[in-house]
Amino acid sequence: MMKAVRFHEYGGVDVLRVEEVERPSPGAGQVLVEVRAAGIQPGEVMIREGARHDRWPAAFPSGQGSDLAGVVVETGPHVRGFAVGDEVLGFTHRRASHAEYVVVDDVNLVARPAGLSWEVAGSLYVAGTTAYASVFAVDPVPGDTVVVSGAAGGVGSLAVQLARRRGATVVGLASPRNHDWLKERGVVPVVYGQGVAERVREAAGGPVDAFIDTYGEGYVRLAVELGVQPSRINTIRDWRTAAEVGARTYGEGSAACAVVVGELARLAARGELTVPVARVHPLAEVQDAYRDLEQGHTHGKIVLRP
Ligand SMILES: NC(=O)c1ccc[n+]([C@@H]2O[C@H](COP(=O)([O-])OP(=O)(O)OC[C@H]3O[C@@H](n4cnc5c(N)ncnc54)[C@H](OP(=O)(O)O)[C@@H]3O)[C@@H](O)[C@H]2O)c1
Repeated sequence: MMKAVRFHEYGGVDVLRVEEVERPSPGAGQVLVEVRAAGIQPGEVMIREGARHDRWPAAFPSGQGSDLAGVVVETGPHVRGFAVGDEVLGFTHRRASHAEYVVVDDVNLVARPAGLSWEVAGSLYVAGTTAYASVFAVDPVPGDTVVVSGAAGGVGSLAVQLARRRGATVVGLASPRNHDWLKERGVVPVVYGQGVAERVREAAGGPVDAFIDTYGEGYVRLAVELGVQPSRINTIRDWRTAAEVGARTYGEGSAACAVVVGELARLAARGELTVPVARVHPLAEVQDAYRDLEQGHTHGKIVLRP
C-alpha cells in the first residue's frame, strides 16, 4: 500500500484527500519511482474543479500530479536505461505523481544530474517545458525586446531566463516584491495593472518584438496594442483571443519530452537556470499547498515532498 492524493468529486481544495491505496506495479517499459518531490500546478486546480471537463475529464477517484523526481525501486520488463537505485526526474500523464510511488514510462525519465536538489528536480517538468515552448514559439534573437507577463510565476520565472539566454532584452511584468529577483536575472521589471502599456513602452525604450503571456486576461490584446506581430505572441492561457488575433499557443504539450526536461535539468544543475522554490509541503498538507497556489502570486514553484 502507499499514500496518494485522491479526489472523488469535482470541487475546491476540500475535496483533496491523502488516502491509502494499492501500490502500483510497473508494466513493460515502465519503472516504479519512490517520489521524493513533485511540483503542483494551476492546471491541476482547473481539472479538480471540473473547469476543463470538456477537454480533460477526471475519472473518479482521480489522482493528480505530472511532475516528479525520485528513486527507481522496481523495473518492469524491457526497461531501457534505468535500474533500481537510479535517481531520476521526469513526468507522467496519468495524474499520479502526488503519491509515495508512481509508475513512469522509461521514455519520460532522465537521470537526476549531480547537484540538482530534489525540490527543483521534482518541479521542472510542467513549468520548464511550458517556458521552453513559449520561448521557442516567439524565437527571440539578440537585439529583440521580449515582454513576459506573470514573469515571476512558475512558468514566467523560467521563461524570462530562457529568453535572456537567447540574448534578448526581457521586460517582466510582476508585483514589486519580485522586482529585485528579476533584476538579478537581467530582466527589466514592470508593475502590471492600470497604465501597464505606457510603462512597458518606457521600459522597452523602443519597439517590443515579442510577447510571452503566462497569465491571460488581456495580455494578448496588450501585445497587439504594443505593435507585436501575432506570430511572435505566445499565450499559454488565453486561447480564445489567440485564435482571434492569430497568436501562438505553444505550451507544455509542445515540448513534453525527456530531452527538454534533461536539458533544463542540466542548466539548473550548472546554476545557469534558477528555479525558485516558493514553498515545500509534506504530502499530508496537499490542501494547504493548493490554498497557497490558488492565491495566484506564487514566486516559482510549490512542491510536495511525500
Ligand atoms: N498551456 C499550457 O501548457 C500551460 C502549462 C502550464 C501552465 N499553464 C497556465 O499558465 C498560467 C501560469 O501558470 P504558473 O504555473 O506560472 O502560475 P503561478 O506560478 O501560479 O504564477 C502566477 C503568476 O501570475 C501573476 N499574476 C497575478 N495576477 C496578475 C496580473 N493581474 N497580471 C499579471 N500577472 C499576474 C503572479 O505575479 P506576481 O506574484 O508578481 O503578482 C504570479 O507570478 C496558469 O493559468 C496555468 O494554468 C498553461
